[in-house]
Amino acid sequence: MSNIVWHPHNITKAKRGAMNQQRPAIIWFTGLSGSGKSTVAGALEEALFAAGVRCYLLDGDNVRHGLNKDLGFNEADRIENIRRIGEVAKLMVDAGLIVLTAFISPFRADRDMVRAMLEPGEFIELHLDVPLAVCEQRDPKGLYKKARAGEIPHFTGIDSPYEAPLTPEIRINTAAQPIEASAAQVVSFLREHGYLASCGH
Ligand code: ADX
Repeated sequence: MSNIVWHPHNITKAKRGAMNQQRPAIIWFTGLSGSGKSTVAGALEEALFAAGVRCYLLDGDNVRHGLNKDLGFNEADRIENIRRIGEVAKLMVDAGLIVLTAFISPFRADRDMVRAMLEPGEFIELHLDVPLAVCEQRDPKGLYKKARAGEIPHFTGIDSPYEAPLTPEIRINTAAQPIEASAAQVVSFLREHGYLASCGH
């Protein structure tokens, strides 16, 4: 990065957030495959959208079709996956949005790296805390079955670790409540912590 100088522009994150009448932030979903990240994030995005919140959902499987299609599931590739998502989500926060990300993001250090890229309060870690046995029983894509059969190497929870967050801002067990209740829990958190406060949302 030598000879590259940051240019401070006049239209700032604060101004964009004010225009959008919201406090920009990332809601970082983390959890095992099958824990409900995409489902709850989708329901949350719908609820926020309906309330007039400017938001955008970055979803693991979708991002791996494009931006990160060159990455696999070994440790180095997963780290790079999360680094890129962190940078993209950070740009979206700078653009004044509430960003939802839905990636397994199994490693604590990588999630903490993204947290460290942002200002205090901008990284809201949401752990979908669902037991492996429940995720495996749901097996919506049939991937656990394949992983148990040895057909998918490095599968999270089977032969690749998942490091649960120690102090996430929000913890949800989707096995214990309906999807809409999980989405509503996050909306309440956002309201109570002033992310949607200055607006009619
Ligand atoms: S992450 O670990 O790098 O954060 P990401 O969320 O992008 O993972 O992608 C996970 C999705 O990829 C899973 O929902 C599943 O559909 C698919 N997948 C394919 N291979 C694997 C694997 N080895 N481990 C986990 N998920 C996998």
